[in-house]
Amino acid sequence: MRTVKTIAEVRARIALWRSQGQRIAFVPTMGNLHTGHMSLVQRAGQLADHVVASVFVNPMQFGANEDLASYPRTLTEDAAKLAENRVSLLFVPDTGEIYPRGVDDATRVEVPGLSDILCGAYRPGHFTGVATVVNMLFNIVQPDMALFGEKDYQQLLVIRRMVADLCLPVQVLGVPTVREPDGLAMSSRNSYLSAEERARAPRLYQALCEARDRIAGGETNYEVIERAGMQALSGAGFRADYFSVRRAEDLIPASPEDRALVILAAAWLGKARLIDNLRMELSRN
Ligand code: PAJ
Repeated sequence: MRTVKTIAEVRARIALWRSQGQRIAFVPTMGNLHTGHMSLVQRAGQLADHVVASVFVNPMQFGANEDLASYPRTLTEDAAKLAENRVSLLFVPDTGEIYPRGVDDATRVEVPGLSDILCGAYRPGHFTGVATVVNMLFNIVQPDMALFGEKDYQQLLVIRRMVADLCLPVQVLGVPTVREPDGLAMSSRNSYLSAEERARAPRLYQALCEARDRIAGGETNYEVIERAGMQALSGAGFRADYFSVRRAEDLIPASPEDRALVILAAAWLGKARLIDNLRMELSRN
């Protein structure tokens, strides 16, 4: 595996592979890699001749009072994990390489609507930061395909929408959420939890499962289910931002006729803001 810091070095490698007709899969990350990230990398390795990964803690997607400064940075360990999983190229740009004129003056990519609801309502500007950096990374790497986790379901839809609207020649693939044995979705931010909070954290996933079971059992009053979800979370000591039943396709609030659903939740536990979601398909009757 080669590790490079500049756009020029990425382009030189990619040009070589392209001239040989080889297929490239791309996995963008912010590092502090865990088994969830590695499942994306492994899937990428099955699908393409070369896997390119990036580690870049993107300042544009963090709000002023968020955890940009404290976000865990573990590049040595990350590089070792990627090298073991047949990544060909690791791109680790400095902030100045991506934002030479500074973050505030950079051109932005905005995906309206989808970026303003759910997590976007609580993190203004977050998805614009994600869409902008992913668009840039796509232009730098020019992959045939890029892999994203369903753990960040809204992010996956924002990127799919951006790719469709801007006619980007990249296939976007979603990869299922990897969980700890007790159900907690793996996340770099789980390291912010104290031991006591970590023990309570799986309640988020359990609340989603309870909602899924009620819907699967035939309940169609989703507002009642959402309120029960919010109560389950506050009862377990979370400060919930939202607990919501949506259409899987576009995150519009679900109605009883919809079949492809996703239940999404975001909640604070101590210093950690945890997000998770469950997709479900109701059979037609
Ligand atoms: P990051 O949080 O590092 O996640 C990188 C990728 O790993 C994302 O596609 C995310 O959905 C996926 N991922 C994280 N936890 C996962 C889990 N438990 N199971 C499966 N996949 C998981 O998401 C970002 O970085 C950034 O927003 C980025 C897209 C890199 C843009 O800066």
